[in-house]
Amino acid sequence: MKRLRNLGLTLLVFMLILTTAACSSGKTDAKPAAGSGEKYTFKLAHITPTDHMWHKAAEKFKEELDKRSGGRMKVEIYPASQLGTEADMVQQISSGSVDFGFITAAYMSSRAPAFTAWFAPYAFKDLEETNAARDTEVAKKILGTLDSQGIKGLDYVFAGNRVMLFKDKEVKKPEDMKGLAFRVTPSPPLQDFYKSMGASPESLPLPEVYAAIQTGVIDGMDMDLDATITNKYYEVAKYGAVTNHMVWPAVAMMNKAKYDKMSDADKKIIDESIKAAADYSAKTRASQEEEFKKTLSDNGMKVYEIDQKLFEPYIKQFDEKYSSTDPLIKEFMDTFRK
Ligand code: BEZ
Repeated sequence: MKRLRNLGLTLLVFMLILTTAACSSGKTDAKPAAGSGEKYTFKLAHITPTDHMWHKAAEKFKEELDKRSGGRMKVEIYPASQLGTEADMVQQISSGSVDFGFITAAYMSSRAPAFTAWFAPYAFKDLEETNAARDTEVAKKILGTLDSQGIKGLDYVFAGNRVMLFKDKEVKKPEDMKGLAFRVTPSPPLQDFYKSMGASPESLPLPEVYAAIQTGVIDGMDMDLDATITNKYYEVAKYGAVTNHMVWPAVAMMNKAKYDKMSDADKKIIDESIKAAADYSAKTRASQEEEFKKTLSDNGMKVYEIDQKLFEPYIKQFDEKYSSTDPLIKEFMDTFRK
C-alpha cells in the first residue's frame, strides 16, 4: 500500500515537471506575444550619409522594430553606399543577401518604369500632400510592380523636394539652362525633364557629384536641400534655386521571399515599423525647410525661387510623353493632377 502511494506521488511530481517545462518553453496554444517567436538580425542598406534624413528614418525603423518585436528583430544599417551602388544593393536585396533597402525611386524607375510617375513635375502642393499620397491605391500598385523582381515594396520615405544648384550662374528661368552640363540622378524621366529645357543632363550617382562640380565637369545639379547640406555642396555651388519641382521618395523594400515566410504577426510588425519611420521622416523634414534655407544662406549660397508658371510648357511635355508609357503613370497623373 505504502509502495503504491509512493508510486502515485512520483507520477504526480513527474507530470507537474512536464507541464511546467511545456509552459516555460512557450509551447502553448495562445497567440504569440511580441517578445516570442523567431529572432531576426536584418541588414538594411542605403546610399546617404548618416546625417541625411533617410539614415535617420532607417534608425527610427530599427528602433520601432526592436520595440514592437520585444527585442526579437534587430537591424544592422549599412549607410553611405557601404554595400555598393544602388544597382548592387537592389541585386543584394533581390537575392536575399541583404534584407532591406531605402533605394531612390529615381533609380527604381530604370528597373520598374511605373516609379517614373513620382517624377511628374509639380504634382503636389507641399510635403504634407506628398506624404498623404503614400496611402493611395496607385502608390501601392506601383510598389506591387516589384513583386516579379523578388522584392516586396513596403512604403515610400520622403526627404524633401528637389531643388536646382548652380556652380556660378544664377539661372532665373528654364531657358537659362540651355547648354549647361547638369547633373541628374541616373534616371530617364529626370534626364528627359532637363533635356526638354535645353540642358545637357549628366547622369552621376551621389558620391561623384562633389568632385564633378568642384572641377567644373558639371555646371549644376538636381538635388534635395538635405543632401545639399550633408554633402556641403554650398562650398562648390554659389546659387540654389528652391524650385521644389519634383518629390523625392526612397522606396523602402525587403527581400520578398523572407517577408512572405514571416508569420502574419511579424509582417504586421515590419509594416507598422516602416510606416512609423516614413511618417517620422516626412514630418520632421517638412519642419526643417526654413532652417535648411537659412543654413545655406549662412554658408554663402544665394538661395532664391523660380516661379512655377515658367515651367508649365515642360510639365506639359513630361505628362504627354509619360502618361502613355504605362497605365500606372496615367492613373497617377489622373489621381494627382488637379
Ligand atoms: C541624389 O542622387 O541626388 C540623392 C540620392 C539620395 C538622397 C538624396 C539625393
